[in-house]
Amino acid sequence: VEGLQIRNATLQDLPGVAAVQRDADRPPTDPVQFAADIADPDRHIVVAQVGELLVGWAKTHYWPVIDGIAPAGHYLGGVTVAPTWRRNGVGSALTQSRIAWVRERADEVYYFANAQNTASLDLHRAWGFEEIGRASRIRGVEFTGGQGLLLRSRLRGDG
Ligand SMILES: CC(C)(COP(=O)(O)OP(=O)(O)OC[C@H]1O[C@@H](n2cnc3c(N)ncnc32)[C@H](O)[C@@H]1OP(=O)(O)O)[C@@H](O)C(=O)NCCC(=O)NCCS
Repeated sequence: VEGLQIRNATLQDLPGVAAVQRDADRPPTDPVQFAADIADPDRHIVVAQVGELLVGWAKTHYWPVIDGIAPAGHYLGGVTVAPTWRRNGVGSALTQSRIAWVRERADEVYYFANAQNTASLDLHRAWGFEEIGRASRIRGVEFTGGQGLLLRSRLRGDG
């Protein structure tokens, strides 16, 4: 997309993020949680902007402790693009930014999604994610319709 910009989220982005969540029929963002997330040095919260318009956002989670099948480490989590802006590379750009951030801090990055979310699974395939497990609940997330897939991408190796 012409003029697409990916940058760190700030508190001023809250209304734009709320609008994306609404348009995408996703749960509303808690303002207190959003403020805490962007202030957390262990997390990378990014927004995608076209001109003045916020068209998507995404975040990482850092989990220092293993939980069931889920290893400790950095996880990509919660990428949302406003419906009218999809299939324009916005989700990929938000993912590239987060992968680059994690690569500076760790040797691998994790991610999980509903097994039925083909858009998400296809999007992440470009970064070489491999399935390392599946479960009906991963890190507290319950998967509607059945299963979640847990995936890992190794960020070292090819140099
Ligand atoms: C998943 C999501 C973030 C993708 O955003 P996007 O900006 O459309 O993604 P991109 O344009 O960068 O797509 C990159 C690739 O992902 C795959 N992809 C994206 N949307 C897809 C879809 N609906 N069906 C199949 N593959 C899809 C394609 O391979 C695509 O490449 P292509 O357009 O060249 O075919 C977006 O659909 C969304 O916000 N969905 C709702 C929220 C959600 O499910 N988030 C993920 C939770 S883990």
